[in-house]
This record gives sequence, structure tokens and C-alpha cells, in this order.
Amino acid sequence: MGQGENEGRSEEEMRGERQGSTLEEPELGRQSSAPEPAIRHIAIIMDGNGRWAEERGLPRIEGHREGAKAVRKVVRRARELGIPSLTLFAFSEQNWERPSSEVAGLMTLLEEFLRTEEDELRKNRIQLRAIGRVHRLPPLIQKRFDELEMAEGETPEMVLTLALSYGGKEEIFDTTHALLEMARAGALKPRSFTIEDFERVLPSMRNGPVDLMIRTGNEQRISNFMLWGAAYAELYFSPKRWPDFTELDLDEAIRQYRRRERRFGRIAPEPTT
Ligand code: FPP
Repeated sequence: MGQGENEGRSEEEMRGERQGSTLEEPELGRQSSAPEPAIRHIAIIMDGNGRWAEERGLPRIEGHREGAKAVRKVVRRARELGIPSLTLFAFSEQNWERPSSEVAGLMTLLEEFLRTEEDELRKNRIQLRAIGRVHRLPPLIQKRFDELEMAEGETPEMVLTLALSYGGKEEIFDTTHALLEMARAGALKPRSFTIEDFERVLPSMRNGPVDLMIRTGNEQRISNFMLWGAAYAELYFSPKRWPDFTELDLDEAIRQYRRRERRFGRIAPEPTT
């Protein structure tokens, strides 16, 4: 199995190395001089496209079309802010069960996005990646991901990961399955296999754990997204439908994140005088 770029680094080390992003605005509302939590990885559940359209008497696909415009705005803003990694839940493994016309419409929007954003992604040194059961996607889309792979040696400023045909349980299951096969073939020793080894091969952990998970659409659940990487993520729920989510909403989510105290199961440090 491929080795991720976090090879040899524990979650603690990865967190320790984090620097804050460059959100330009002065930080609001912090009460203490404690350092603000750094932010390296934002994951977003883009919910509410269908309702956005239905509320306007439009076909659901129009909500997804507006949703794709919101994707462009939010990616641009995250890049401006210096967020190293953004993961978007664009199509779940369960979404295949939707009417075939909606699935086909979503695939068309995705293909359009990969085609029209190519220059913007390259210019801004954004590395595009996919996680999920990508082999289920139309071949044209799989090919576009291959073509958009950055040249070896090029360093990205941001990694944009699209979760496609993705489910957190499925990802953990598929990874475990592959590891069991390796163990059976004698290529892996279960006894010396560690949690860090598992994280190195789990595709959604390639860019480290999620710091902030945002969900739009006025629902408060995780819906099988990034189950492992979001173990200690701060959660931010927006009542807005995804097509209405703007750059300012992203800024607000980050501002609120920075007021949080992250303890990772420990107790708060003693205040310094
Ligand atoms: C959930 O809303 C959203 C989706 C299933 C698809 C998300 C797709 C996009 C934002 C556009 C295409 C993506 C890219 C990357 C260009 P929903 O349909 O479940 O909304 P509802 O809960 O209101 O029905």
C-alpha cells in the first residue's frame, strides 16, 4: 500500500508542527492570552442544495449547480487564508441511491468543475485529490483527476480533496480489508502493526486529522464523513443551505473555531501569569 506524506509522524507531532493560518482579520473575542488553536485541515459537509432548489420551486439539480458556485468561492477563500487542506463531501457512497437523473446531473457538474477550474487550481498551486470508492465514478472523471495531479517535485500551497463515492465506514472497512489481505500474503505483521501505521494508509488521513468540520443545511450530524480524522474535530453547524454559504460564513466558522479550547482528552493547561 502507498505511504502517505505523514509517514513516520504521529498525530501529536503533526499537531505540534502546525502554524495558524493567515486569517487577516484581528481575532475576535478571546478572553485569555492562550495561543489560538492552529488550523490546518477544514472538512465541509455541503448540505442543503436540494432544499435550496425546492424552496424556490426549482429542480434539485439547480441547487447543486448553485452549490458548485459556492464551492468555487469557498475554495478561493480557503486558499487566500492559507488553509493547507480543505476536504469537501461532494458525493457519498449512499448518494448512488438517488434518482439516476440527479446522479447524472451531479457527475456532469463535477466534470465541469474539474474542467473549468484547471487553470485556477494550477495558478494557485492547489493540489486536487479524491478519496472514496473512486473506481465507481465515470471513467472521464477518474481521468481528469489523474490529469490534474501536480507534477512530482511541485509543492502545493493547498490540498483540495473531494470525497466522492465516499463513506467513512466504507473507507475504514476497505482499508482494513486490504490490510487483512496483506497480512494473509505475509506482507504485514499484525503484531507490530500500530495505530500510526493504520493512519498512514487511511486515505482521508493523508492530510492529517480534521481540525474544523463544518456542516451546512441546518442539520447537526456527521453523516459518515471523515469518521477517523474527525475524532477530535471542532464542529460548526450553519443553518444556511450550502448554496447560500459564502466566504464570510467560512470566516465566521474559523473565527468561532479560534475561540475554542482544544484539549484532546486532557485537562486545560495552568494559566500563565
Ligand atoms: C447535499 O445536499 C449535497 C450533495 C449530495 C452534493 C454536493 C454537490 C455540490 C455542492 C456540487 C457539485 C460539487 C462540486 C465539487 C463541483 P442535498 O442534495 O442532500 O440537500 P438536501 O438535504 O436539501 O436535499
